[in-house]
This record gives sequence, C-alpha cells and structure tokens, in this order.
Amino acid sequence: MRWLSTYVGVAALLGAAYAQDPDSHVVVDTETGFTFGEYISDQGITYRLAIPDQAPTTGGYDAVVQIAAPIAIGWAGMAWGGSMTYNPLTLAWRSGTDVIVSSRFAFGYYVPPPYTGATYTVLKTGTHVNTTHWQITAKCTGCTHWGDDDTGVTDLDPTQQNPLAYAYSTVAPETPASNTSSFGIHDSIGHWYHDFAQGVNPGFAALVTKNEGGGAIGTATATSATASATPSDGCPA
Ligand SMILES: *[C@@H]1O[C@H](CO)[C@@H](O)[C@H](O)[C@H]1NC(C)=O
Ligand SMILES: *[C@@H]1O[C@H](CO)[C@@H](O)[C@H](O)[C@H]1NC(C)=O
Repeated sequence: MRWLSTYVGVAALLGAAYAQDPDSHVVVDTETGFTFGEYISDQGITYRLAIPDQAPTTGGYDAVVQIAAPIAIGWAGMAWGGSMTYNPLTLAWRSGTDVIVSSRFAFGYYVPPPYTGATYTVLKTGTHVNTTHWQITAKCTGCTHWGDDDTGVTDLDPTQQNPLAYAYSTVAPETPASNTSSFGIHDSIGHWYHDFAQGVNPGFAALVTKNEGGGAIGTATATSATASATPSDGCPA
C-alpha cells in the first residue's frame, strides 16, 4: 500500500495549495457593468479581470482587464503567468488624456518586446484619466493561453485561482504616445493569487460590445472624454 500513502500525500499537498483564500475579491463595476475579480497592490494599483461564462479550460478565452493607477504611476503591468518571462504581459500607461495598452512578452530581463500573440480592444467606457488616476479597460484575446511545443503550453483555468504578478514604475515610458515605447526598469514587483471564477460574466460579449463605444475595434488608445458617455445605461446595481 506504499503507493497509496504516496498518492494521498501528493493529493493533500495539491489540496493545500488550492485551498488558500485568493488575494482577489468580487466587485461590480457600475460604470461598465462588468463583475470583476479585483486585486489591489500595495501601491494602490487596481487589477481587475472579467471573463465569459462557460470559458474553455484549454485553448484560451477572451478576458477583460481593467487597470487603475494613481496618477503618479508612470507605467503598470501585469504578467498572466505570474513571472516576468515567457508569458503575456499587459502594460499600461498614461499619454496625456489618453491611456495606452501595450502587448509584450519577455524572453529575458530586458525591455520586453511587442507580442503579437495577444491583442487588445480598448473599451472606451472604463478608460479615462482624471485628476487622481488613470484607468484602462480592454478586452484581451490571447492572454489566457500561450506557448508552444518548445516552451510548453499554458492554459489559465477559468474556474480556479491563477498566480499572477505585477510590476510598476513611477517613471513614464520614453514615448508615451506609442504602444511600442521603451520604458525603464520597474520600481517594484509583486505576486498574487487571482480567482478567475470571481469575474465570470454571463453576458460577456454583450458587455464588451456595449462598452466599446463607436466600434473602435483594434485601436490601442482611447480618449478620456468617453467615460461619461453612458452615465445610466442600464448598469446593474
Ligand atoms: C499597437 O497598436 C496597434 C494598433 O492597434 C496594434 O496592431 C499593435 O499590436 C499594438 N502593439 C502593441 C505592442 O501593443
Ligand atoms: C478617478 O478615477 C479613479 C479610477 O478610475 C476612480 O476610482 C475615481 O473615482 C475617479 N475620480 C473621480 C473624481 O471621478
């Protein structure tokens, strides 16, 4: 029966790993109508994720990412695989009254180059700059599934906690208007366990369409003026 006790031991360890409370919690964003899982870092940078219901466990699914940062933050980023290298990175920063999202993927510890495996649609509602914060809301296609036979394929389980990471700097990128701008090293990084199930939205596709505002599919910038365009457009709660 030796194999049995070994098996039970491994199962107990796995169980312990997943039994911990997530670092994220549920919020309903009245502006966009999305239900998000939300994590707030020590610096007051908010990372929110929304996903469709019935999302497949393999092959990837779209996710809406919302990042809100105090105005003093130069750039903020999140790593979908929980480390800097070999996973999709979502970078965001302010460019005047616009907010830029940039798709990156690091192969080492230098400025991550652009990544075409993940693409973003900025949702104008939920993207703004005000006197205290900048915020971006964008749908990502390609953030929940990545890799190949050489590096290994990763799928983020839509029903589970997944380990994510953030990084930020108070220094703005060199060319803020460009989503391929270079930027300096982070001031700090951190890790968290994000419960993807907290951000399940049955009406996901309809919410994306509603918040897109004017069919701006494929643009990487959005203006700040649109945040108030639909002040009472049937948002829940
Ligand atoms: C920059 O924006 C363009 C136009 O939307 C997009 O095609 C490209 O993938 C973006 N690049 C990065 C690095 O995000
Ligand atoms: C400014 O934006 C932040 C982040 O989106 C938001 O929490 C805050 O309520 C906004 N402030 C005002 C005055 O609208």
